[in-house]
Amino acid sequence: MNPNLIIDASYFAAAFLFIYGLKRMSSPVTARSGIQVAGLGMAVAIIASFLYFFNVSEEAKPHVVTNAILAAIALLIGLGWAWSSGKKVAMTAMPQMVAIYNGLGGGAAALIAAVELLGGHATGTIELVVTILGALIGSISFSGSVIAWAKLDGRINKTWRVKGQQLINGTVMLITLAIGAYIIFGAHGQAPTALVIAFFAGALVFGVLMTMPIGGADMPVVISLYNAFTGLAVGMEGFVLQNPALMIAGMVVGSAGTLLTLLMAKAMNRSVSNVIFSNFGVSGDEQQGEIKGSQKPADAGDAAINMRYASKVIIAPGYGLAVAQAQHKLYEFVKLLQDAGVEVKFAIHPVAGRMPGHMNVLLAEAGVPYDLIFDMEDINGEFKEADVAIVIGANDTVNPAARTNKSSPIYGMPILNVDQAKQVYVVKRGQGKGYSGVENELFFADNTNLVYGDAQKVMVSMIQAIKSLEGGH
Ligand code: TAP
Repeated sequence: MNPNLIIDASYFAAAFLFIYGLKRMSSPVTARSGIQVAGLGMAVAIIASFLYFFNVSEEAKPHVVTNAILAAIALLIGLGWAWSSGKKVAMTAMPQMVAIYNGLGGGAAALIAAVELLGGHATGTIELVVTILGALIGSISFSGSVIAWAKLDGRINKTWRVKGQQLINGTVMLITLAIGAYIIFGAHGQAPTALVIAFFAGALVFGVLMTMPIGGADMPVVISLYNAFTGLAVGMEGFVLQNPALMIAGMVVGSAGTLLTLLMAKAMNRSVSNVIFSNFGVSGDEQQGEIKGSQKPADAGDAAINMRYASKVIIAPGYGLAVAQAQHKLYEFVKLLQDAGVEVKFAIHPVAGRMPGHMNVLLAEAGVPYDLIFDMEDINGEFKEADVAIVIGANDTVNPAARTNKSSPIYGMPILNVDQAKQVYVVKRGQGKGYSGVENELFFADNTNLVYGDAQKVMVSMIQAIKSLEGGH
């Protein structure tokens, strides 16, 4: 059979699997199989790419054998690295892993462009424009994602900012664009190597300059933006290579990344440009008004017993639940409450935690049934009927200042209405602030008590309190 036909059919199958996999990722019930389906699509696309090696002329064969061996070695190194790092990554380290993998995708797209440009393969104007744009976006995504990874992983703690930052960034971008324009229209794709290298260097430096001033707090949105960039760059280089699988995968990643970026920005009531240019979450609570009231501590056992005799309890989990890895103990506690006849629901804020779906993944890991888990807009009306709302390691996502305090940096961000429950318990270790660095009015409210301690230890105490109560009956 004609290898070209097999390659085309395989790419079609791969594209179908990517899109079908993505569709399945839209619900937590089918998400796991969605990942597997998309992974299968990737395997099909990789195998199809190797088929190219069988489809060359006799005189090109020796050259192609070397390339096939090199590609296989690269594939094995990549597979080994991804397999071992994927197996041992902690849930809290997932955002930086996504950042680095995404950056590598952008870098790969830029490398394809480099091969095209340095080899003088791209010659037509449209082909050159697409190659240069893909190279620019892919390079920015690569270097920007590496900085995002280093910040999230705690390897870079400084938020580097200088006077005239925007002017410096703008100048670097203009010079890079000017070189790119010369490569296309002046040199018609036959530019000297030094110029091509200068173009890539400019794009890489721009990615670093653009990411360095952004606070670690905004990194998830930045990563999602770079994810969209990577998709776009891959799609463009797919066009240059006339490779349908790359084009479709790139477009799917590009549009999904764009939508996710917009969704996250909306859930924080901020624009994407505000995320990139405003240094939010770096300067702490300078705009904070004064908060009235005091923080009233409560004993974990007393809080648990109060919940045991409630009829309705709503749980608002946040980043601290992930830090403490308390999801299993939390679900054990929930089952005890349910056994005692209490109605228990989970309320999920769209940006609770540090990445989209963070809480859903944690709760799914602990085996919490999906019908107990509700999105913010579906459950917000129920807090006023709840006897108890328990906040576990969440902060900004439950701060009523977002609704009422115009001077608060998080004003306008949609929040979970936990403050409307009759009694609120907040589980946290101490006086630590949330992601945005602002103080939380909820902790000082009359109906709020703080249960201090690591979320996992608190859950163990709560379980013990209920068990000893039941045992005493
Ligand atoms: P945060 O506002 O970050 O608050 C986490 C709270 O957990 C802190 O108050 C901390 O207080 C507590 N905590 C930390 N470790 C703990 C532990 N081991 N045991 C108990 N408590 C612990 O969390 P959130 O409410 O989930 O809000 C998420 C934030 O991330 C929002 O500001 C959101 O805008 C931002 N963000 C999220 C995303 C996505 S996609 N999820 C994207 C961009 C930005 P202590 O230190 O006192 O314990």
